[in-house]
Amino acid sequence: MQLALAPLQTYTDYHFRNAHLAVFSGVDKFYAPYLKLNNDGTIKNAPKIDILPKNNPHVAVIPQLMACSEPEFFIMADYIESLGYTELNWNMGCPYPMVTNKNLGAGILNKPSEIFQLFDTIFPKLKMGLGIKMRMGLESTSEILEILPRLNDYPLTEIIIHARYAKQLYNGSCDHERFLECISLTNHRLTYNGDIESKEDFDDLQVRFKGIEHWMIGRGAMKNPSLFEEIRFGIVDPGDLYRDKLARFSAHLTDSLLECNPDRGYALSKMRSYWEYLSDGLSDGKQLYRKLKKSKSIEEFHGFLAEML
Ligand SMILES: Cc1cc2nc3c(=O)[nH]c(=O)nc-3n(C[C@H](O)[C@H](O)[C@H](O)COP(=O)(O)O)c2cc1C
Repeated sequence: MQLALAPLQTYTDYHFRNAHLAVFSGVDKFYAPYLKLNNDGTIKNAPKIDILPKNNPHVAVIPQLMACSEPEFFIMADYIESLGYTELNWNMGCPYPMVTNKNLGAGILNKPSEIFQLFDTIFPKLKMGLGIKMRMGLESTSEILEILPRLNDYPLTEIIIHARYAKQLYNGSCDHERFLECISLTNHRLTYNGDIESKEDFDDLQVRFKGIEHWMIGRGAMKNPSLFEEIRFGIVDPGDLYRDKLARFSAHLTDSLLECNPDRGYALSKMRSYWEYLSDGLSDGKQLYRKLKKSKSIEEFHGFLAEML
């Protein structure tokens, strides 16, 4: 069994990944949020810094990019390769219209011939391994039935499927029936992703999707960062030990944020956004988050945390 942390832009950056590694366990691979180009053709700075080896000294990271043409792809792939990475992931899942309207993210899923044309030009020149992370379609989950068999012709390292179609955004349920159909349509290593929020969710899906060895978890791990070890080792600890780990995790996150940017207001706003998720995993989380939201400084924020955890 292989467990991966999903990329969540503005959340699962190197601060989060390193703090997770310091306090929790159970993750085999961390996927970094996507690299994207500015209008002038340069790579956006935050994701560029996020994957620097010095920021990821102990973590197995797979960088991700978002592109819709060969030149764009290679601006980012060359940068990733120059940092020493041997594998990258292509985002074909971002569902937002301002992205999909430009053929980026999931916007290419209803134009399979464009995907294959891009692969035909990119693969002969690419020295790194390439995997894709995709939705099951842009407007319907049946789109993937056409795409998957033809992807067998390309030497992809893996296919990660978030089992929704893009028009759902993050709403409604994952289409497990369709994912079951996908299993027999691909020869590639297949990863399931979508709505794993507890060990019970995982156990149910593992029974249902026989043969799937690779799993990716995003929001479930933002709410409960110990979810990976619960799944892997079967130990569920909703008590004091977990709360102590959360306090240490928060301290790591804050230190890392302040080290990179001394603006304490920025650290406070980032910690608030992490805790919007983290509080959801605690029985008294609503009350806790109400208090945290009121804090006016990062010191006050940690004071409230110490009091409540
Ligand atoms: C705030 C947010 C940011 C995300 N950023 C990315 C991203 O950068 N790249 C990507 O492939 N998916 C991104 N996703 C999608 C997640 O990686 C994942 O596929 C999705 O949340 C479903 O998995 P989950 O139910 O385990 O969270 C993002 C999702 C959210 C909620």
